[in-house]
Amino acid sequence: LTSCEGKDLLTLTDFSPEEITSLLDLAYVLKKDHKNGTTYQPLAGKTLAMIFDKPSTRTRVSFEVGMVQLGGHVMNLNRQDIQMGRGETVEDTAKVLSRYIDGILIRTFDHQTVETLAKHTSIPIINGLTDHYHPCQALADLLTLQEEKGNLSGLKLAYIGDGNNVLHSLMHGAAATGIHLAISTPPGYEPLPIVWKEANELAKKTGSTITFHPNPYTAAENADAIYTDVWASMGQEKEKEKRLQDFMDYQVNQALMDKAKTDAIFLHCLPAYREWEVTAEVLDGPQSVVFNQAENRLHAQKALLVALLGERQVVSKEMDH
Ligand code: CP
Ligand code: NVA
Repeated sequence: LTSCEGKDLLTLTDFSPEEITSLLDLAYVLKKDHKNGTTYQPLAGKTLAMIFDKPSTRTRVSFEVGMVQLGGHVMNLNRQDIQMGRGETVEDTAKVLSRYIDGILIRTFDHQTVETLAKHTSIPIINGLTDHYHPCQALADLLTLQEEKGNLSGLKLAYIGDGNNVLHSLMHGAAATGIHLAISTPPGYEPLPIVWKEANELAKKTGSTITFHPNPYTAAENADAIYTDVWASMGQEKEKEKRLQDFMDYQVNQALMDKAKTDAIFLHCLPAYREWEVTAEVLDGPQSVVFNQAENRLHAQKALLVALLGERQVVSKEMDH
């Protein structure tokens, strides 16, 4: 984990499988300590700036609360309030911000904006979701699977729905941890070829398999967990009507859940739209762990913040805990 110091998290491939495992171990410890009332503030005096070009509930709140719990501060930067909104370049903004603050969390549209920011700063940049990736979500997803099912390696996870940012990061995360991921998307909504390539390369090292199934019921067979996400992501509002039609056969409902193992869990990054991508029966039912999954954003990101913004020896000490 010590090697994470000074790194960025633009996509989950920025971290090695070993680093991801260490982050999950640290998240587990931090969650337990927090529940026990132990105070741990290695980020005292550190400031994280947050830029949100899209709405957010979980990412915004969990990062702010996480920084406060770790003793640090958060600064919300609205584009309208800073000179970037009047045309100051991302490059210049990045160079200036890195003279004051210790890390930047950014949620935006184009993944390249995040890459540009990272290229021009010496401080860690954390991707809080772009059109292509959502790595912080994947960390929380892995933590949740580990809590619910034990060892990640060898688990079968089925993802049914849109080949979007959440799936892309889940592919990286599954491949890095030895999870067998079965994907089912409607034609035309498959994940990006580059992510297939990266995930398959990682999978070769960990024994994971990433497979595609045109039929969602085949993907769900014998799964330990079923995952879905919204059919129209932020920025795709205009495509919504067409998407609702194209995705109708890919709804996660009880019939689909029944193809999975009897003790299978249901995952969704939230926000969810009941009776579209998932029925209320499943989302609010006994197999759903979506609110624990949402809580785990906090614990996984605290581990990430300690790893990226914390001092080397502090991280090592925590890992000996
Ligand atoms: N899952 C997730 O990222 O939620 P928010 O959009 O509310 O941050
Ligand atoms: N795929 C969704 C995830 C929201 C957390 C979106 O990008 O809107």
